[in-house]
Amino acid sequence: MIGFIGAGSIGGAVITGLVKNGYDENEIIVKGGKSNRTKDLQDHLGFKMVQKIKQMEDADPIFIGVGANALDSVLSELKSISKDKIVVAFTGSATVAKLRQALPDAKVAHAIPNTPVKVGAGFTGITYSEKFTDDEKKKVASVMGYTGQLVEVPEPQLGIIGTVAGCSPAFLDLFIEALSDAGVKHGLDRKLAYDAAIGMALGASKLALQSDLNPSALKDEVTSPGGSTIKGVAALEEYGFRNAVIKAVDAAESE
Ligand SMILES: NC(=O)c1ccc[n+]([C@@H]2O[C@H](COP(=O)([O-])OP(=O)(O)OC[C@H]3O[C@@H](n4cnc5c(N)ncnc54)[C@H](OP(=O)(O)O)[C@@H]3O)[C@@H](O)[C@H]2O)c1
Repeated sequence: MIGFIGAGSIGGAVITGLVKNGYDENEIIVKGGKSNRTKDLQDHLGFKMVQKIKQMEDADPIFIGVGANALDSVLSELKSISKDKIVVAFTGSATVAKLRQALPDAKVAHAIPNTPVKVGAGFTGITYSEKFTDDEKKKVASVMGYTGQLVEVPEPQLGIIGTVAGCSPAFLDLFIEALSDAGVKHGLDRKLAYDAAIGMALGASKLALQSDLNPSALKDEVTSPGGSTIKGVAALEEYGFRNAVIKAVDAAESE
């Protein structure tokens, strides 16, 4: 049995990714908040729901998906059942030091998933406390593996991983929308323009993932001398495409 405290945007996305990709919903127990959000999700996914954290005694690992404002009260309620359990918090402010101090008898980790976890294509950075054994890390990976990639990183890098992988789905959505607008401007029907832009993003990502070449070399492969693609690349550079992306990450990181 695994547990979730908080099933909002990110907690709900992880639970959805688990169930939609074959994790047994009867092995998931969720404590929701004050709204009907968790009940609505339960109606779709069929996991068990409880009203109190104490009712999650059988759950291990327990994942925390509440916001920073609810973290302290959740941790103090969780303390009494946390002995020797694995606790993984998605909350941005839940540093390993903070978790360790609040739950001294638990094995704690801080993880930042992104929303593609919902479709099993997520990228989650995680930092484990030094108490974790390899087997315990494997236990976390065996759950999160249903939602996509899980990569261990030093805690100082969790923030930038969260920005590069977590904020950027919105940046890519913007790129896809702009590409689709351009297609419509040149005569494509809107749906076809979106299908082409989304299909391209999916395919180009898959190619970049599976290729031995880095994205820069992949770009070189499709830019023939004097051809249309290099002219498009030059126009993107003229309008500061790369700088705009770097500035977007700078802006997100400054939060
Ligand atoms: N969204 C992302 O893409 C993302 C990615 C990585 C990390 N994070 C981090 O994850 C945290 C949550 O973000 P979010 O976007 O998922 O926020 P959210 O949509 O507001 O979800 C938080 C959920 O926690 C529930 N909750 C609050 N107090 C609770 C309690 N005592 N017991 C059980 N459930 C409780 C709330 O339920 P009710 O609404 O029903 O009260 C709410 O559904 C933030 O710290 C954020 O930085 C977010």
